[in-house]
Amino acid sequence: MKNTESVLKKIENLQESASSQLKNNADSNVLEDWRIKFLGRNGELSELMKVMKEVSSEDKRVIGPKLNQLKDNLNKLFESAKESSAQNLNDENSFDITLPGKNLSYGSLHPTTLIIREICEAFRSMGFQIHEGNEIETEKYNFDLLNIPSDHPARDQWDTIWLDLKNSNDKYLLRTHTSPMQARIMEKNDPPIRVVVPGKCYRYEATDATHEWEFHQIEGLAIDKNISFSELKGTLYQMARKIFGSDQKVRFRCDFFPFVEPGVDMSILWEGKWIEILGAGMVHPKVLSGVGYDPNEYSGFAFGIGPERVSMLKNKIKDIRNFHANDLRFLSQFVS
Ligand code: DAH
Repeated sequence: MKNTESVLKKIENLQESASSQLKNNADSNVLEDWRIKFLGRNGELSELMKVMKEVSSEDKRVIGPKLNQLKDNLNKLFESAKESSAQNLNDENSFDITLPGKNLSYGSLHPTTLIIREICEAFRSMGFQIHEGNEIETEKYNFDLLNIPSDHPARDQWDTIWLDLKNSNDKYLLRTHTSPMQARIMEKNDPPIRVVVPGKCYRYEATDATHEWEFHQIEGLAIDKNISFSELKGTLYQMARKIFGSDQKVRFRCDFFPFVEPGVDMSILWEGKWIEILGAGMVHPKVLSGVGYDPNEYSGFAFGIGPERVSMLKNKIKDIRNFHANDLRFLSQFVS
């Protein structure tokens, strides 16, 4: 048999230790720990309640009400502590408004997006429209309509990622350049045409500091009556001055692309060196007739720019792979 006196003492002790351990302004974790320790299913109160099984029915009459009273007290203690901690949270004086806030990190435009917009804007200001095209192309548009037949050695220039999509009429690929959009736009529109087409291209090749297998180009096309090579030169020279500065020097040299005749590349004089930034030329008569234009009536020029290359020059970026590395130390330098 338990001694009544010692049980009553235990009740008193528990009341004391529970209230002394309940701190003012306790946060919700501390409150919960307290609740589990004293009021939980295996807590100290439940433990003490077990004596009821061991005492005489006479003693029960004394101890029972005391235990109920204790239970009541502990519940009240807990409720009022919970209430006061909730009040504190709502109390303006309970936190320091001079503490610095959390920094929100904002998104920003990718450097490739920035340079594409800048170059397209340069052409837009000269009357060009901006158009986007599909990245999955067919052999017909990527090569055939651009005067690159399947046995032509120029196909080697475009290491192609072929797609395994079954189509009896054509073969699919990831476009190796934006030039297929020349034919697509001409097929759907009548001259005059002045358009730039920014977009992603893919080549199956090893990457290094100046080559990526996934990169961008901006294609340009101008078709009208009486367009001559001087318009090509004037337009591209003007673009270079808008992008690199009004005293920018440019150089045109002969180059070969099967879809233009004559073909050129344009370099800019940058830090004492001539650096090639684009290919261009007068649209080949075969390309014009391939889309149903009469080469005797219409002429025009086309060009293809690598915007990452332009950004690398302007921003002194040494490795083209930075554009896709997804490294915030690189990307955050372009936050405007
Ligand atoms: N498509 C060419 C390439 O990927 C670039 C190019 C050259 C585009 C000459 C043109 C052009 O429109 O006239 O290398």
